[in-house]
Amino acid sequence: MARSVTEWVNVTGDISIIARESGQVWFHRPSGTQQELDPFATAMTGNGSAGSTVGLLDGALNLGFAGIEKRLAQPEPTVAGYIVALAGAYHTSVHTPRNLRRAASRFEELGRPEVAAYLEERAREETGHDRLALKDLHALGVPGERLVANYIPEGIKPLCERFDELCAQEYPIGCIGYSYCLERIAALKQKSDIDRVQALCPDGVDATRFLRSHSCLGSEVTHVEETIKFVASLNADDRIKVVQETYESALIMAEGYNHELFKSEAEMLDQLQQALGEALPYLPGAYSSLREEGGARPAS
Ligand SMILES: [Fe+2]
Ligand SMILES: [Fe+2]
Repeated sequence: MARSVTEWVNVTGDISIIARESGQVWFHRPSGTQQELDPFATAMTGNGSAGSTVGLLDGALNLGFAGIEKRLAQPEPTVAGYIVALAGAYHTSVHTPRNLRRAASRFEELGRPEVAAYLEERAREETGHDRLALKDLHALGVPGERLVANYIPEGIKPLCERFDELCAQEYPIGCIGYSYCLERIAALKQKSDIDRVQALCPDGVDATRFLRSHSCLGSEVTHVEETIKFVASLNADDRIKVVQETYESALIMAEGYNHELFKSEAEMLDQLQQALGEALPYLPGAYSSLREEGGARPAS
């Protein structure tokens, strides 16, 4: 009988993730004195399995988000916050196909056609997702093209830069870890999250196209499953790099999202209006801080 697979990756100086094929995952701190007796002190070299690889990937995400858990912002959802999120969604998707194709052609040059084919396929699947965010902005009465041309949420910028860098590397395997991070987090969004946003929108307005497709209801779930299978099939060195980048991307994402969520509604409205060069369209009851200040005025 084949032995069950155990995989491990050191993600920070002092924490390794260990995962078993059965789904068991734990965090391991190598103890200084028993280093030579510690089987996880050297890098893994064996094969992966879907069960253990997903344990490493999700373990890396959990570790990345653990640092900010105690200071996690949990604001009430607002239309202004949602418009900011849509602008962020646009920026995290607009260059994805181009970036993934760049990484794919590098793997082609490196004689790794299976990685190139996987990335090409992902590039095809992600094509047009930026348009979904623009359509949602338009549905809310916001000139999406003008907004995104002048505005990228500060917390989203480092994430986009990270992806650009990863895809341009000599050995761009890390871009798979980054994509896993974004897609796995998106796939956690439930129907109730979409309903909450829908409830903010005026009746008859469909502004949740991007959110639906990047949630448990959309294609993200299959993308995540396919990525797990693919990463599990990679050699140990590649799996280590992918898991380490999932952790690094999760750190950047956690900080960035938190930064955005801590902004007051007035601050967000101010930034959006500056980028648009005009007031946001009037949506009945949508902007609470304006209401508090004496009533929102319809944009003329
Ligand atoms: Fe997407
Ligand atoms: Fe996706």
